[in-house]
Amino acid sequence: MAEDLTIQTGGKDGGIVINDDWPGYSLELFNYPKHYSGDLECVYIPHGVIMDRTERLARNIMGDLGDHDIVVLCVLKAGYQFCADLVERIKALSRNSDHTLPMSVNFIRLKSYVNDQSTEDLHIVGAEDLSFLTGKNVLIVEAIVDTGKTMKTLLKHVEAFRPKMIKVAGLLVKRVPNSSGCLPDYVGFEIPNRFVVGYALDYNEYFRDLNHICVISESGKLKYKV
Ligand code: HPA
Ligand code: MG
Repeated sequence: MAEDLTIQTGGKDGGIVINDDWPGYSLELFNYPKHYSGDLECVYIPHGVIMDRTERLARNIMGDLGDHDIVVLCVLKAGYQFCADLVERIKALSRNSDHTLPMSVNFIRLKSYVNDQSTEDLHIVGAEDLSFLTGKNVLIVEAIVDTGKTMKTLLKHVEAFRPKMIKVAGLLVKRVPNSSGCLPDYVGFEIPNRFVVGYALDYNEYFRDLNHICVISESGKLKYKV
């Protein structure tokens, strides 16, 4: 039965794999803000699927870290939506189980992209002093990991404050040729090397107000180019 069914995880959950030939869903099948008509190519990951996957990540995190105190470190700006939804799901699980996961939530802001290109200089803006992480169990929450360079830099920065443990949750991991091999412990989706927007992921600050994760169109890139 179902010999052609590929199970993508080799025992470890590396995220839902979206293959290179995935064309996405036609925009006609979903609602999205009218101000973005013409700016998108397709719905790549519908909002409901993101929410369902986030619920499962919350369960995995609870299973591993339940009954520890954790400090959630949300990587702004793109991580805010995923972090908010993930924390909500963890809270819901804590309400309905004997195991609880006491959490505090903090924020750090990183910036490295202009247009759809990563820039060499990664800025850490705000919360540079992370001494409140010393001796704590830290869960870093990121929207997207591509080369892993940002994550590596951030991990080094966080490690300097000597937390007891560091785990990373990333909603998206992009398959890129120049990956540093630095991967999150919890991955929502592994996606092809395409520029995606929505669910707080931006292109020059646009598209954060889009629920679905979508692929931006060429005309969208031109319209919002800086
Ligand atoms: N979209 C938005 N921001 C990003 C991306 C992306 O595909 N990759 C890295 N930062
Ligand atoms: Mg950005």
